[in-house]
Amino acid sequence: MKIVVGITGGIAAYKAPELVRLLKKAGHEVRCAATGHALEFVTRVTLETVSGAPIYSDLFASGRTEHISLKDWGEMLVVAPATANIIGKVAGGIADDALSTLLLAFSGKPIIMAPAMNCEIWAHPAVQRNVALLKSWGIRMVGPEEGELACGVSGVGRMAEPTLIADAICQGERLKVKGERWLVTAGPTYERIDSVRFIGNYSSGKMGFALAQALGDAGADVELVTGPTSLSISHPRIHRTSIESAREMYAAATEVFPHCNGAILSAAVADYRPSECADHKLKKNGSEGMHLDLVQNPDILATLGNMKTSGQTLVGFALETDNEEANAQRKLEKKNLDYIVLNSLRDKGAGFGVDTNKVTILSRDGKRRESPLLSKKEVAHLIVETITA
Ligand code: CTP
Repeated sequence: MKIVVGITGGIAAYKAPELVRLLKKAGHEVRCAATGHALEFVTRVTLETVSGAPIYSDLFASGRTEHISLKDWGEMLVVAPATANIIGKVAGGIADDALSTLLLAFSGKPIIMAPAMNCEIWAHPAVQRNVALLKSWGIRMVGPEEGELACGVSGVGRMAEPTLIADAICQGERLKVKGERWLVTAGPTYERIDSVRFIGNYSSGKMGFALAQALGDAGADVELVTGPTSLSISHPRIHRTSIESAREMYAAATEVFPHCNGAILSAAVADYRPSECADHKLKKNGSEGMHLDLVQNPDILATLGNMKTSGQTLVGFALETDNEEANAQRKLEKKNLDYIVLNSLRDKGAGFGVDTNKVTILSRDGKRRESPLLSKKEVAHLIVETITA
């Protein structure tokens, strides 16, 4: 593919040469368009050396109409890093330099942006409005989309890693999910004890929502079955069913699975529920202790593994403390899965509630892919990319 890499003036511009190198290595032809500020962070010589072509940065260089010839040449435009400024310019239809002019001229062709900016700036309503506007025009945003995901210790919004941007670029070609239907389970389940109490867990649903988003962005129709969570999602291809208990999740998941091409079960389902649910608030029982009688919930993943037909892909999650990979591999075989995503318990910043995660993806045919600590959105893209490659 012929790709134009647009570079704007953020500190993450130093990662642009690595992105160019990865794209070239993957067999793409690359040309760079940089703003004047970008060239403060990364030199023209570096970009010209890695891309093997002159840099387009001066709209007014004599006799040049490169925004037209580059627009005709390029099959995709990737802006990495994308500052609030360039996002705002596109949203406002402003073309006052080489890159912003190219971006407007490029309308109608695929554009991807990898935002990177200070967290306060990212959270500003004007920036959020502009991002939403660009997305509604079909411009894809790669990397941290939620403000909190973008915030590192320094308070500076981190750009998605070049490998993930490169993956996202190639996804359009590789993903086979366009037009397919996928089931995703997310969040915790609540198992009622009485009219005001339940047994639950700390799952936030963030991983499952990120997976639904990644599949939806890749063109799949997604059935998102989620337990109680504060998250909201608005996507034309994602249909959300909110449930409370494991049995309700089981009913919803088993109903849609036969009509799906695949399923990713990321929910933290309670293995047990109280055998009885009182319809009133249980009273204290003097100073005596209290015993709850628990019965086992149905295993949704194992059930779908039994139902699975040859064309379907089934992906489960695992959280193991000992012999992690061996146990995960066993679970994969026992439950008839195609992939299992092993959550790391050893790493700070991975798992429940937090915005980041670190996973190892094991496949039925013995392949193994390990991620560094990434935002859940980036992990979601990695998972979707791996299971559909
Ligand atoms: N899962 C499910 N239904 C259940 C329990 C778990 O669909 N009733 C799914 C989760 O969504 C996740 C995977 O199973 O994809 C997690 O498995 P794990 O938590 O490791 O639980 P178990 O398979 O029950 O294994 P263990 O024996 O370790 O408890």
